[in-house]
Amino acid sequence: MNTLIAASVLSADFSRLADEINRLKSADIIHLDLMDGHFVPNLSFGYPLVSCIRGLTDQPLDAHLMVTNPQNYIDGLSRLGVSWFSFHQETVYHSHRLIQQIKDHGMKAGIALNPATPVNTLDSILEDLDYVLVMSVNPGYSAQSFIPSAIAKIKELDRIRKSRNMDFLIEVDGGVNAQTSPALREAKADILVSASYIFGSKDYDKSITTLKGQ
Ligand code: DX5
Ligand code: ZN
Repeated sequence: MNTLIAASVLSADFSRLADEINRLKSADIIHLDLMDGHFVPNLSFGYPLVSCIRGLTDQPLDAHLMVTNPQNYIDGLSRLGVSWFSFHQETVYHSHRLIQQIKDHGMKAGIALNPATPVNTLDSILEDLDYVLVMSVNPGYSAQSFIPSAIAKIKELDRIRKSRNMDFLIEVDGGVNAQTSPALREAKADILVSASYIFGSKDYDKSITTLKGQ
């Protein structure tokens, strides 16, 4: 499978949002970082902006919930046309139930792992997941430095999916750029999330092509 690129709008210039989204045509997915100022120290945006972005593009929307109560947003985000929904393993007691609810709303279900959360916490739920989101920075901000231990986690997940014959996808988020992306593709990450590398460049298409390794 070709590597998919999820452009995170967290680094976009919101005063020119339509233009910014328009320049992301070669991204496969639009990644939405939803933060509550509680699970993570930062606040980002909510339904009004998601709705606005939905109106600007037909690209699939991938919501990354960095909130302590992700269950409260399943219905609202699915109504807004979000098709990928991930929550953090560190935030919920009943991840199995939540995964089923996300799928019942017609969305792909993923669990995100903080840098300090090991892959084996997902052992009993992996077969229910559509994807795993490996954080390669501590969540909350764009433009942080890549934490290299994410690569071992991606390799471990790839090993597990092969040995257990599973088909979940592996998404990686944080510090993805021209330098870090080759090792991530090599480790078999399927989806690379990027904010500051894409939006900090002059030519978004070219940056996306670089991340794909083309
Ligand atoms: C961090 C977010 C990321 C962030 C990535 O909490 O989950 O999606 O926007 O930003 P970069 O690509 O700049 O590290
Ligand atoms: Zn994210």
